[in-house]
Amino acid sequence: MKKSLKIKSCPQVSNLKMDIDVNAATLSQLINLQQQYGDIFKINSNKNTPSYFINDPTLIKALLVKNHSNYKKGPGFERIKMLLGNGLIVSDGETWRRARTMIQPTFARQNIHKLVQQMLVCSQNRALLWDKLITKNQLINITEEMSEFALELILKSIFGEDYDVLIDKGNENPFAFLSKDSTRDLSVVMKMRNLRNHILSIITNRRQLKREATNYDFLSMYLKAEDKSGNKFTDVELIDEIITLIVAGYETSAGTLNWAWYLLSTHKDEEEKLYQEAKPIFTDLNTLNIETINSMSYTQAILEETLRLYPPVWLFSRKTTNDDVLEGYEIPINSNLFISPYILHRSKQFWNNHDKFNPERFNQRSEAKKINSAYFPFSLGPRRCLGEYFSFLEMKIHLGYLINKYRIVHTQDNKPQLNLGINLRSSNDISLQLEPR
Ligand code: HEM
Repeated sequence: MKKSLKIKSCPQVSNLKMDIDVNAATLSQLINLQQQYGDIFKINSNKNTPSYFINDPTLIKALLVKNHSNYKKGPGFERIKMLLGNGLIVSDGETWRRARTMIQPTFARQNIHKLVQQMLVCSQNRALLWDKLITKNQLINITEEMSEFALELILKSIFGEDYDVLIDKGNENPFAFLSKDSTRDLSVVMKMRNLRNHILSIITNRRQLKREATNYDFLSMYLKAEDKSGNKFTDVELIDEIITLIVAGYETSAGTLNWAWYLLSTHKDEEEKLYQEAKPIFTDLNTLNIETINSMSYTQAILEETLRLYPPVWLFSRKTTNDDVLEGYEIPINSNLFISPYILHRSKQFWNNHDKFNPERFNQRSEAKKINSAYFPFSLGPRRCLGEYFSFLEMKIHLGYLINKYRIVHTQDNKPQLNLGINLRSSNDISLQLEPR
């Protein structure tokens, strides 16, 4: 039998305050501790619920893939549960397994391809607005624009024609607060509860119509989905899953695009290379198709590098449901384990010029090996993100279409600070000056 390995404790911070929502001081403390204590260490001395931080790719893989059945979601997820209900991101055990099996087919590539036109239309909607702002010599608030873009797209992808009905009624978009208000406190929880009624009325309507939506949308797939006993989602389950999809699907992509625009605005050569790749693909939109979009390898590398430097899910956690041995380390039941893609993605140990924006590293073979082990913006294993392919397609179409229309002339001078909430955001909005090409 393998000898058990000793986990170091860090006495001077024997109760580091950890939640999903920590501040910049905790992040720098964690970075310092990791440099001092290595890739697994204990961060609190609570006997019943000890907490560990792990930063080693092999241990992380063991936790998320090989030994995943000994873990459930950890601290921080209760707060997300207040916001989302018991949807896929927070549920565990049989509830999660059943929902995941029912939802997985919705995200098959051939289904996501049916949303390419929506992705283009939402990108074109941004350009309609940007043209007006540019004519008036105004800056584009990229942070706000990325939220609007990603929210419009996810809502149209979920509700299809019902989204237009909702907006056409002349009502204020009941989902608008999500992109306008970045706080995720109790007031938002209350607004979320109001949203449930809107979603329920759409669901009830669809169920009564008893016909398929004309165009593909996520809601019709969720309505059709059956578990192995032939049961469908109840209304409450459906609402939880839809809210989960809205929040999971828009904040992450909006944040990534926000950082991507910022990085491009400060890296002229990379902006030019992106433009050169996009030009032949987006100049004649009649020739745009899934093959040409998937051929955008440089754009893909830009997005992967943005996700390395600014992973939206920058910290997450698990809790042991049984005693576990993680690659020789004994982890008792009820322990909390924290992983930070942000810290791992910037480790000198795994990445050359770790703080440098260098998309090429994702197209270079020598780095590919490392990518497999020290890179996981979408998590790993059975709980890996379901929206990965959707988000790369939407982000490639968005960047490709808009960079082919506009050149970045100026960015703000000060470097944006990090807002370390549930998602990694910029603490102030990023504004850019653009001009038509
Ligand atoms: C850049 C974009 C995105 C990033 C970086 C991202 C990241 C993640 C991560 C790290 C997790 C797992 C968290 C954990 O293991 O505790 C996750 C789960 C999930 N994501 Fe994403 N996500 C993105 C976009 C999307 C989109 C666009 C959708 C939907 C359209 C989506 C839907 C989901 C769902 C449903 C889960 C829960 C999966 C499960 O637990 O079975 N995500 N995402």
